[in-house]
Amino acid sequence: MNPEAPSVPSPAPTRYTVGIVGGGQLARMMHQAAIALGITVRLLAEAPDVSAAQVVHDVVVGDYTDRATVLDFARGCDVVTFDHEHVPTDILRALEAEGIAVRPGPDALEHAQDKTVMRARMAAMGAPNPVFRVVADAADLVAFGDEVGWPVIAKTSRGGYDGKGVWRIDGPEGAEEPFATNLTRPGGETDITSVRIIAEEFIDFSRELSALVVRSPSGQAVAYPVSESVQTGGICTRTITPAPGLDSEHATACQQLALRIAGELDVVGVLAVELMERRDGGIVVNELAMRPHNTGHWTIDGAVTSQFENHIRAVLDLPLGDPGLRAGHVVMDNVLGGTEDDLTGALQHCYARDRRVRVHLYGKEVKPGRKVGHVTAYGSDLADVSRRSLHVARYLMGDRDA
Ligand SMILES: Nc1ncnc2c1ncn2[C@@H]1O[C@H](COP(=O)(O)OP(=O)(O)O)[C@@H](O)[C@H]1O
Ligand SMILES: [Mg+2]
Repeated sequence: MNPEAPSVPSPAPTRYTVGIVGGGQLARMMHQAAIALGITVRLLAEAPDVSAAQVVHDVVVGDYTDRATVLDFARGCDVVTFDHEHVPTDILRALEAEGIAVRPGPDALEHAQDKTVMRARMAAMGAPNPVFRVVADAADLVAFGDEVGWPVIAKTSRGGYDGKGVWRIDGPEGAEEPFATNLTRPGGETDITSVRIIAEEFIDFSRELSALVVRSPSGQAVAYPVSESVQTGGICTRTITPAPGLDSEHATACQQLALRIAGELDVVGVLAVELMERRDGGIVVNELAMRPHNTGHWTIDGAVTSQFENHIRAVLDLPLGDPGLRAGHVVMDNVLGGTEDDLTGALQHCYARDRRVRVHLYGKEVKPGRKVGHVTAYGSDLADVSRRSLHVARYLMGDRDA
């Protein structure tokens, strides 16, 4: 060896590149988790300035419904995963045909894309469903309502989110509405695929629960403690973990149901099972999400391993981390766009008042009702944790009396 030779850099270490389709806050928080694991993220973003595109270096801006765009994007990735479930499955199958790992795969993802497919599968596996039926028109919906009793719930089978595409129909006079609405996809364009309407029995639930599990390709799975989720106007605004008053028998049943669904559907990554709890304690499946979920945001600060890190670990088939709680109670409140535009500036007050509260801001422009961040508090006293989290979230929404 020539001692005079200039030192050469050691060979580049193996890089793991996870491709994420969709540039919202879920991708942003997945990226944050990936950084700590030395994993590179490549992003297919709807626009150059969306939440995750502001922080990821390797960004392709393009249409996730365009086959060539998605293929080009995916060729540089070791595995492709998602910020949302709207990528057409035929495109994902084309990726797999090229040998690109897609996690969760299209066969699983279909159950998060299409509520009719999901309901049929839940029925086939004996998971608790409301009575449901695909309805072709208002007359069909009226017949369904007359049969099962009013009110009923009508939903677009595909393309809905945050309560957009869900209607409570109180009687025959409201039956036209679901058939007269065009949905707008998160990307902004009208989604013409969401024509199929599914009618469901109205569940008079006492509260909503979320059972979040993560599963890896080799079949390892972990279950987070079950959360209570509070929906306001169709948007999840708060979670409380563990769900107050849920006894361990019921909690375990929720976790086991979610693990069974994840296994039977061969889900890889996070599976969130949204549940409705009946007044007698029975549970009914509402819907499935196969990506990090709003009801799991508490895990960043409140669990040993966050849902974002476990999702990244799962798609790379790394061993999954402990989903256990870091404290007795964890409360997460969403920050929805309000009258405060300078969210980071408002932290002056929030942090001066409370050194233990945790705030996550998504870099999104503040618009009324839009999810722009979340707040987490944890500790041993639920009332205290709840009050502290809510105060900061309200303050960030501009509520100065909070
Ligand atoms: N069958 C039902 N009975 C009563 N409420 C329902 C029913 N289905 C949905 N909901 C309510 O509507 C909300 C949104 O429905 P969901 O299917 O989760 O749509 P999204 O895709 O918009 O989240 C649920 O969180 C729940 O509060
Ligand atoms: Mg939902």
